Amino acid sequence: MEKHLVVLSGAGMSAESGIKTFRDADGLWEGHEVMEVASPEGWHNNRELVLDFYNQRRRHLLEVTPNKGHRILADLQNDFKMSIITQNVDDLHERAGSQNVIHLHGELLKVRSEIAPEMVLDWTTDLNSSDRNAEGHALRPDIVWFGEAVPEMERAINVVKEADFVLVIGTSLQVYPAASLMDYAPKRAVIYYIDPKPAAVAATYQQLKIIPEKASRGLEMIKEELINWGQTL
Ligand code: APR
Repeated sequence: MEKHLVVLSGAGMSAESGIKTFRDADGLWEGHEVMEVASPEGWHNNRELVLDFYNQRRRHLLEVTPNKGHRILADLQNDFKMSIITQNVDDLHERAGSQNVIHLHGELLKVRSEIAPEMVLDWTTDLNSSDRNAEGHALRPDIVWFGEAVPEMERAINVVKEADFVLVIGTSLQVYPAASLMDYAPKRAVIYYIDPKPAAVAATYQQLKIIPEKASRGLEMIKEELINWGQTL
């Protein structure tokens, strides 16, 4: 029976593709007051500033490519039932070939109606305040901002509950509820945490195997062990 490998990825997963993380030294939040560009209040106060912030990130995303870590995860689909649960709003997991990807915090290449959140559009160019959907609604980035609900959380919890293996990759485990997902892993699950500067809280999880490496190197190091282990269990 194919074992279920669940990945919980954060900004560090995309760091080697050239996308800045949020809380590292020269992080994405540098030069920006987080709440000015990633909260409903910020959107209300200065729509143009928020649109420009996401337009810059969307343009940059179209210039970068998946890294070796994304590709190793896509390859592991040959040996496991794979579920990717990511806090990232980029599409690099998908571009590397991963099929089942849940975006807890939304997607940079999507926008949605301001009044009907279920009306989502693919969007790869700049979003301007004059843009409208076919129904004439104003549009906003399809991103979960601070203080907003995380619609995919329940689905993500149910996936983690079914895990045989969990790979936590490149997240500082500081933002909830995403950071709590690990708690829903079955006691029997094997959990790895790959991060060059692992969050201190990780040391409190007995079940966690900490690999203090970058995503690509850490995944290269454990992929054989994972495949062999998956076949024996
Ligand atoms: N490989 C793996 N991990 C890395 C790498 C790398 N090459 N480079 C940095 N990291 C690690 C850092 O050590 C850090 O622990 O990635 C983590 C990035 O943490 P954050 O910048 O806090 O990103 P993340 O945990 O994804 O933030 C969660 O916060 O700002 C909000 O919504 C935003 O989804 C984001 C959420």
